[in-house]
Order: sequence, then structure tokens, then C-alpha cells
Amino acid sequence: MKIRVLGSGAGGGFPQWNCNCHNCHRLRHQEMNGTARTQSSIAVSSDDRNWLLFNTSPDIRAQLEAFPAIQPREGVRDTGIKAILLIDSQIDHTTGMLMLREGKPLQVYCSEMVRQDLSTGFPLFKMLEDYCTVEHHPVPLDGGSFTIPGIDDLRFYSHPLKSKAPPYSPHRHAPHDGDNIGVVIEQISTGKKVYYAPGLGEIEPHVMAAMQDADCLLVDGTFWTDDEMEQQGISPKKAREIGHLPQSGPGGMIEVLDGVHETRKILIHINNTNPILDDDSAQRRQLTEAGIEVACDGMEIIL
Ligand code: MLT
Ligand code: MN
Ligand code: ZN
Repeated sequence: MKIRVLGSGAGGGFPQWNCNCHNCHRLRHQEMNGTARTQSSIAVSSDDRNWLLFNTSPDIRAQLEAFPAIQPREGVRDTGIKAILLIDSQIDHTTGMLMLREGKPLQVYCSEMVRQDLSTGFPLFKMLEDYCTVEHHPVPLDGGSFTIPGIDDLRFYSHPLKSKAPPYSPHRHAPHDGDNIGVVIEQISTGKKVYYAPGLGEIEPHVMAAMQDADCLLVDGTFWTDDEMEQQGISPKKAREIGHLPQSGPGGMIEVLDGVHETRKILIHINNTNPILDDDSAQRRQLTEAGIEVACDGMEIIL
């Protein structure tokens, strides 16, 4: 299978439009060794032609333009996007559906909780009724498997995660199973597995089990420290409070990944404040020494 990282940044992207933090400022002024990142999304395929999108970011238009394998091939209207899987109802993961309104009915796989958010607080499903329309397909919340018509040779397993529903959701402070999910992508013919969880606040036993069983991990890389935004005078919100396990410190993602068998370990959904965006930073060096990679836009993973 092939995974294409369409966008490796967290909400706001890098640099963020109104942000003058250490990273955003230095990137804009070519004072740091690093690359810009669009907002969080990946595409997966086993034939390089028919793609499942994981999340649809507000940057989707540029992401698709940068990726010939997903562009129209035949007829006057065409796309390689066969379906969409939403892992939550966050703005950075869903707004791109509006940009796909010119197309055919969108085949959207997501939890009932996400369907509810996208029919009420951020009613994309309702709005799109007057454009392309949305066909919703529920996903299992017990680790059960499913396949997706048009996406050959791939099987998916989904389970609930402890992370956070978006600020606009009635579930923000009243979590429900299915507000956020983690997904295992398995190639049926080879048995190879990727685990994708860009928003991960806590490592529950079923999450660790999925990580131990995978050949490649694409997991939450949002923040380096819990108080990163506070330290930089941006927001008092802590990483854990908004559903993201920081990388450093006791119980952080580096320690967690150290306990996972040797495999490809990649951080994704990187916030613009995170020092790992600086390729020359001590924090980035620490990741490299721990065998952990940092996703960038356009990265392709072949398994
Ligand atoms: C998050 O993952 O916490 C989001 O990126 C926040 C946002 O989209 O504003
Ligand atoms: Mn996000
Ligand atoms: Zn910034």
C-alpha cells in the first residue's frame, strides 16, 4: 500500500496566518531550517489510482494539486478520491469537504458522534445536501473491521480514542466513544498494517496493542511539551487538555514509542509551536536518536 501525507501540520498549518511565534517568524524570514506544512490529512491506496482520504483539510485544494496520482484521468469530471474517512469532527479535519462540493456524492465513513457534530454544530452534511450530497457509512467502535467499495485490498479496523471533540461540539467537555477514533489500515494480500491516530491524548491498552501490531505508526505529534502554548504566550490551554499527548517528559510520546517494538515510527499533525519543526533543533535530534521520524507534506510511505 501507499500512504501519501497530504498535510502534516496541526490546525492552522505552518506557518499559521496570524502567528509570529519563534517557528512561524523564522520560517517566514528564512531564518530556520524547516518546511511549511498544510493541515492534517493523508491518502491511502493499494493501486495508486483509487484513494481513500483520511480527513479533508481546509488546504485540500493545494494538497490535491500537488499530487498527480489523485487527479482526474478520464472524462470531463473525475477524481481518484473514492471515499473519505473522518477520524473526528475537528475543523482542520473536515472543512475540506466543502471544497469537494462540485463532485459526486461523497462517501463518508465516520462515527455516529462525528455525523452528529457535522449535522448540527458544523452542519456540513446538511449544507452539502444542496451540492454533491453526503452518503454516511458508520464505522465500528469496537476494533471491528470493514472494507470500502472501490478501495481494493485494504481492510480497516477502528476504535475509540481518548482525545477531544472540537470546541464547537457539545462533547468537548462530555466525551463520548467515537468523538475521536484510531484506525488500523491493513493490506489484505500482504498483512502489512499502518496505525493512524493524529489526535491521541492517552495510550489506552487497545491503543498500545494496535501500535505493537503495526508495521508503521503515524501518531499524534502536535506538541513537544504540555505547556508549549502557554510558554510562548499564545494560550493557557495545555496539550493534554485539548487531547494531545506531548512528546517529552514522563509518559510522553517518546517514552510510549520507546515501549513499542522496532518499527517505523512517524509523528504527524505537528503544531506550528513545536520545536521539532526546526530540523536543526536539539528536540529534533532527540527524536532522530530515538528512531522517530517527523512527517512532512508530500511524504510517501510504501509498505
Ligand atoms: C486540534 O487538533 O486540537 C485542532 O487542530 C484544533 C483546531 O483545529 O483548531
Ligand atoms: Mn487538529
Ligand atoms: Zn506559530
